Amino acid sequence: MSAPNKSYDPVEVETLKPEEIERMRDEALAAFAAADSLDALHEAKVAHTGPASPLALANREIGALPPHAKAEAGKRVGQARGAVNKGLAARQTELEAERDARVLVEEAVDVTLPYDRVPAGARHPLTTMMERVADVFVAMGYEVAEGPEVEAEWFNFDALNFLPDHPARQMQDTFFVRGPEGTEESGSGVVLRTHTSPVQARALLDRELPVYIVCPGRVFRTDELDATHTPVFHQIELLAVDEGLTMADLKGTLDHMVQALFGADMKTRLRPNYFPFTEPSAEMDMLCYVCKGESVGNPDRPCRTCSSEGWIELGGCGMVNPRVLTACGVDPEKYSGFAFGFGIERMLMFRHNVEDMRDMVEGDVRFTRPFGMEI
Ligand code: FA5
Repeated sequence: MSAPNKSYDPVEVETLKPEEIERMRDEALAAFAAADSLDALHEAKVAHTGPASPLALANREIGALPPHAKAEAGKRVGQARGAVNKGLAARQTELEAERDARVLVEEAVDVTLPYDRVPAGARHPLTTMMERVADVFVAMGYEVAEGPEVEAEWFNFDALNFLPDHPARQMQDTFFVRGPEGTEESGSGVVLRTHTSPVQARALLDRELPVYIVCPGRVFRTDELDATHTPVFHQIELLAVDEGLTMADLKGTLDHMVQALFGADMKTRLRPNYFPFTEPSAEMDMLCYVCKGESVGNPDRPCRTCSSEGWIELGGCGMVNPRVLTACGVDPEKYSGFAFGFGIERMLMFRHNVEDMRDMVEGDVRFTRPFGMEI
């Protein structure tokens, strides 16, 4: 604070002289006009409007003036400060507009630029594998059929000849969406389908005979996720119902499938098994496509793919049980059929030496990338 003003005339105080105030104002306005960036303007703002600026210091001198002189001096300084603030705001607006225009140009995205550096997405190897298998049958005249993933218990079990107390119906095996609600009646619940076989019954009820369908799809079981199991997995189902079909047609179809997928010298073998909806039923194996059986009993040529067994288990198959045909309104005296189904995850595992099924479901692109863009 300066010493009390001895003069009674504000014009006598050097910093409050009109020409001095005008000079301060003009200097401030010139500094703002000269500022060519928002940073430079900020510096000019601090210098010309801050607490240590000439006009602020002049303002402080007013307090030392006698009362009658304060008004005039205050008006003069106030007008100058008003003009400075206005000039500052105007320059601020100008510089901001310049900056925005520059950013729009500098950061503009040219949507017409070539996009080949963006990594192309690819379908999941499970999808590709399912489609490759389905294509083999489409080429033979089969039709692709679909069914719901949330399925009536009747289609998933009853129509397929599962007895009411079959263990597969228990909650330890099956996800129930809705139970049979207080009744003992089987078939009235709703489940997440545990296999693609209910599409067999749906296809027979929906279509005219003969029926030749292939059904790829997602299925669900209460299995823990581990290296060889997942609670959500994929199966592919085949059903043929026509007059005069025999086990020989089933075997010939299976051989054709493995030859189309794995090579002309491939073959399958059947081992007796049990499924309620096929009779007779079999487990189907295919010749190991890596060692072609040569590793069996040959310690010099071990095979990791088939564990030197020569065969790889593929899935289940059999002749459609006449009870299933009857449940779906088909005359088993006139028609016969065959069906088979297998897991796509397991097929992907042995075909590409995938050691852990969890890699397929975790969604890490480092797993899927090596499969490339196979279509
Ligand atoms: C069936 O599901 C029968 N519906 C197959 C069938 C169809 C037989 C038509 C006869 C006629 P199974 O329960 O064995 O069968 O399962 C078939 C395949 O699904 C298995 O060979 C296996 O590859 C696969 N699989 C079963 N459980 C899992 C799981 N938790 N995770 C991954 N794959 C599985």
